[in-house]
Amino acid sequence: MTLLQQTDAPRDADVLTPDRNLAMELVRATEAAAIAASPWIGRGRKNAADGAAVDAMRAFLGTVACDGTVVIGEGEKDHAPMLYNGERVGRGDGPACDIAVDPIDGTSLTATGRPGALSVIAVSDRGSMYDLHHVFYMDKIACGPAGVGVVDLGQSVRDNVRELARKLGKHPSDLRVAVLDRPRHEGLIDEIRSAGAGTRLLSDGDIGGAIDAARPGSGVDLCIGVGGTPEGIITACAVKALGGVLQGRLAPRDDAEAQWAREAGHELDRILGLDDLVSGDNTYFVATGVTGGDLLHGVERTPQVIRTESLVLRSASGTIRRISAEHRPEKW
Ligand code: FBP
Repeated sequence: MTLLQQTDAPRDADVLTPDRNLAMELVRATEAAAIAASPWIGRGRKNAADGAAVDAMRAFLGTVACDGTVVIGEGEKDHAPMLYNGERVGRGDGPACDIAVDPIDGTSLTATGRPGALSVIAVSDRGSMYDLHHVFYMDKIACGPAGVGVVDLGQSVRDNVRELARKLGKHPSDLRVAVLDRPRHEGLIDEIRSAGAGTRLLSDGDIGGAIDAARPGSGVDLCIGVGGTPEGIITACAVKALGGVLQGRLAPRDDAEAQWAREAGHELDRILGLDDLVSGDNTYFVATGVTGGDLLHGVERTPQVIRTESLVLRSASGTIRRISAEHRPEKW
């Protein structure tokens, strides 16, 4: 049974369209996580921020009408008491689904008070998210709809920049490429610049970087580089709704990890497309800003009100919603 085809699941009397309602219920969980993390912004304690976000997200996920399994969580059970891989979440009475959570993408951004930290949940039909937990990093490329059939991880950076610029009707020097600012990307950053494009260096948060690349008007056209594999699956759920490109290729850190991945049946050279990362066309992506950035405002607290801004994407409809909410501090 897919999320769209639930015929016999118990329903609340006022829930006429449970599939759509799921996205709106999920946003309450990312709002809760972002609000819970917000007192820790700029306090230098990323684990405290993450712990607060995890606790709040878990509590709110427990009220959502779905039978969810955490496929991408905070790690294996022994290492994380909450939202571990394999944990069942939701009320258990709704559609069966895979859930990927990142209570804070950008824990360091939160701890240092830098822009761009998000609280994120992605959901898709049960069994549709590719299990890539054997390898922590993945080489990725993401862009908007103009890049479909044009941009490819198998091509050189120069070719990708040139072809995407041509398709967008721009000069390569007008292209802005988001890339994580890491020593491993020194060569990549040189390649981007020598292809004529400019960079937007991200200190963290390549989910936001990829979404910026996929949505119009962000000032970013392309996002490339090696980032977390879980973040890649979560990003796939968002890009499915935005209609752009996301490709990934596993990037094991050493021979042992490469061997582990091969034994688990992964082909290391294979370029994984959107449908490999998440199959089907029934994905949900919700994110709430923790610290303000280009994509979303961060949590704003006053004695009278707590403001949040969230993004809700559904691939089935292609709808992109921004939700501004005002919460009463005394009710939290
Ligand atoms: P955390 O919030 O878990 O620290 O992840 C942030 C992040 O920047 C991701 O967006 C990205 O995919 C990954 O870390 C990159 O990993 P690394 O910091 O090891 O290069």
